[in-house]
Amino acid sequence: MRDMLRPRVESSASRPSPFVAPVLTPEPIIELRSVGRTFGSIEAVHDVTLAVGQGEFLSILGPSGCGKSTLLRMLAGFLEPSSGEIRIRGVPVIRTPPNKRPTNLVFQHLALFPHMTVFDNVAFALTIRHVPRARIREAVQARLAQVDLVGMEQRMPAQLSGGQQQRVAIARALINEPAALLLDEPLGALDLQLRRQMQIELKGLNRRTGTTFVYVTHDQEEAMTMSDRIAVMNAGHLEQAGSAEDIYLRPRSRFVAAFIGETNFLGGTISGSDGALLHVVTPDGVIVGPASGVAGPSVEYSLRPEDVRFASNPAPENSAAATVVDLAYLGSSVRYECLTETGQRFVVRLARSDGLTPETGDAVTLSWDSSNLVPVTAAVAPEAH
Ligand SMILES: Nc1ncnc2c1ncn2[C@@H]1O[C@H](COP(=O)(O)OP(=O)(O)O)[C@@H](O)[C@H]1O
Ligand SMILES: [Mg+2]
Repeated sequence: MRDMLRPRVESSASRPSPFVAPVLTPEPIIELRSVGRTFGSIEAVHDVTLAVGQGEFLSILGPSGCGKSTLLRMLAGFLEPSSGEIRIRGVPVIRTPPNKRPTNLVFQHLALFPHMTVFDNVAFALTIRHVPRARIREAVQARLAQVDLVGMEQRMPAQLSGGQQQRVAIARALINEPAALLLDEPLGALDLQLRRQMQIELKGLNRRTGTTFVYVTHDQEEAMTMSDRIAVMNAGHLEQAGSAEDIYLRPRSRFVAAFIGETNFLGGTISGSDGALLHVVTPDGVIVGPASGVAGPSVEYSLRPEDVRFASNPAPENSAAATVVDLAYLGSSVRYECLTETGQRFVVRLARSDGLTPETGDAVTLSWDSSNLVPVTAAVAPEAH
């Protein structure tokens, strides 16, 4: 099973289609090509191109109303796209109704039938199709083994822990060996502690069964905990798809930088360049940042709070004089909010053990490295799709 999850080097000859973004990707099982959906004058999903790999755990992440559920419902077949194409296992599916598609939409809360045993819950989709009893038994046993619930067949849902119930729901969804499970905020209603537990459980089930998971959430921490890859959506657009690390360290847009974690934005007019570096004039002094991907007379950079430090002997560039206006102890780190004279706000996050620990009201000098500045200007080359 692990083999299926291992990324494979794609040669451009074997995959000429322009819409598979990463160079390293598992075999695509779902392909969306320029998919759009409008409701009257509302453009809920705009020109989304995305491939999901076999066995991958992909999260679709974005704020409420950005089009996540619309996208998932088009994958499941409950909504027809207004434009574009969807392929599952290489086959166009737009005209295929939900029950004929090799996907399975797991509805909210992963609810089980409370009056049915574990066996009957898992068997449900086969029972209503009048599959012979012996084959049902075989299929149910195989699914229960995958989710580690052999011996629980005759229990009722109420006799199971929350985690076990979730595993039954997944076994039930897997009974038809779908190409992918589609999950729309299934943990939304749970309290934080249970949700954490369920996240780990779901990721384990993805690994154990080798089934592709497409998981919708508005919770960035949840997406980062569980996913191989995260597709960040904003107002119907796919802004960026990549690993949690990719998206955090190399956001391609202002929206992604701000939505994933916390960040500072520094921007100004380009006054000159020095090889791979740009000199940028900001109200608080000159900053020097990467030129790569930047076009036009001005640039905006994202700078993560943990990449800013308090310096006693700063260089003239990439530093700023500021005053600490707020500080909060967050256990393993301390979060400072600082303001410069021009009103530029900096959030600084220091490991608790770091030496310099100013207090609220202190005058400080902030400094950072060029390499920590990530351009998020719209002029950055768009995702290869
Ligand atoms: N059936 C519908 N009719 C009209 N508008 C809809 C319908 N479904 C979704 N929308 C609109 O499309 C946009 C995206 O909705 P949705 O996909 O549910 O967002 P999300 O799941 O990210 O919260 C929203 O503006 C929503 O109001
Ligand atoms: Mg939704």
